[in-house]
Amino acid sequence: MVEVEIKSTALNKIGQRAVWIYNREIKTIKGDAEAGSIAVLTHRGKKLAIGFVNPKSKITFRVIEFYPLKNSDIEQIIERRIEKAIRKRDQIKNTNSVRLIHSEADGLPGLIVDRYGKNIICSFDTAGMDRLKALVVDKLIKSVKPNGIFEKANKVREKEGLPVEDKLLYGNIDDEFIVEENGRLFKAVLKGSQKTGFYLDQRKNRQIASMYGNRRTLDLFSFSGGFGIYAKAEYTKFVDVSEKAIKLVEKNCALNGIENYDTVKMDVFKFLESEKERYDLIIIDPPAFAKNKNALKGAINGLKFITINALRLLEQNGHIAIFSCSNAIGFEQLLQVVKTSSQKVECELELISFLKQDVDHPFLINIPSSLYLTGLLLKKV
Ligand SMILES: C[S@@+](CC[C@H](N)C(=O)[O-])C[C@H]1O[C@@H](n2cnc3c(N)ncnc32)[C@H](O)[C@@H]1O
Repeated sequence: MVEVEIKSTALNKIGQRAVWIYNREIKTIKGDAEAGSIAVLTHRGKKLAIGFVNPKSKITFRVIEFYPLKNSDIEQIIERRIEKAIRKRDQIKNTNSVRLIHSEADGLPGLIVDRYGKNIICSFDTAGMDRLKALVVDKLIKSVKPNGIFEKANKVREKEGLPVEDKLLYGNIDDEFIVEENGRLFKAVLKGSQKTGFYLDQRKNRQIASMYGNRRTLDLFSFSGGFGIYAKAEYTKFVDVSEKAIKLVEKNCALNGIENYDTVKMDVFKFLESEKERYDLIIIDPPAFAKNKNALKGAINGLKFITINALRLLEQNGHIAIFSCSNAIGFEQLLQVVKTSSQKVECELELISFLKQDVDHPFLINIPSSLYLTGLLLKKV
């Protein structure tokens, strides 16, 4: 087996059960290390973990299991973890669409699997998982019995030296699907849309935010209108820059019997420069402005601009939810953003709830990057 020797300076990461070992943390790679082959991680001859090695990727080694191993048969480990992840989601009863597998947080580096009824949409984001595709597909067919499995290739595959090309892997996939979530209906376009068709990760937060504000909701960065539709307010305004998203909002309002609403196809930054109406619930759910730490300053400034202007539109005793879907901006940075924004607007905010991705997107404490969606729900007091 290929042997990857870690530098002494990086050894403490193993104690912390970190699962990504970077190129700069590796001393030598012995053996024929092809992208995605199985390797053992060592330090001065001591075995530390088994995992995927990819010399083409900055994240050169990804841990599958730490020593002492309970099982050394990788195919068996992968199959058992797929089964465990699927059974874990059996408890989620309030929807017909769930994330079944969430990569490292389910012990399966690079594998994302979402189920929309009988349709499976999946991604193989690491060379190691890509090599195991046939095994994964076979296991999903046996365990989930889907009508079809579609691979949505993420751009991140380029970092692993893999081609980016969507493919039907099994059976047939519906072009469109109606997500039924907590009694609400949403059209999801399964191929060629944002994410795998719907923001499954915001399920719980949509429910929480909908408990506050029922007169006038402003859904900023609305995508298909999840937050605004859940809120069922007397009046709702949805803002998104994408034409496709606005079309989905209109369809979803019709599906849910929502009539008193407006859609605005516009850049939120521009919209906020001229908006004068007032709201008792405002949602700010932007895309990842800061994909990494380098882009942090610009992203924080962007979030502040939006928050300051949204707070000006928020009624006294109204609620505002603000999200970040990049782990470069977490709870700490969001708290700082709302604190400085409220000072600028000269208002006080009470924190009602810390929000995070729903439970089918697990956050493992030893994998900080698995907490990628954070949010705050606040009240203007
Ligand atoms: C994270 S998604 C929102 C998900 C949505 N809240 C939901 O629960 O389904 C972000 C959305 O912001 C939109 N967007 C990105 N940049 C924008 C901008 N500058 N102004 C308006 N919309 C933007 C994208 O089209 C996308 O639909």
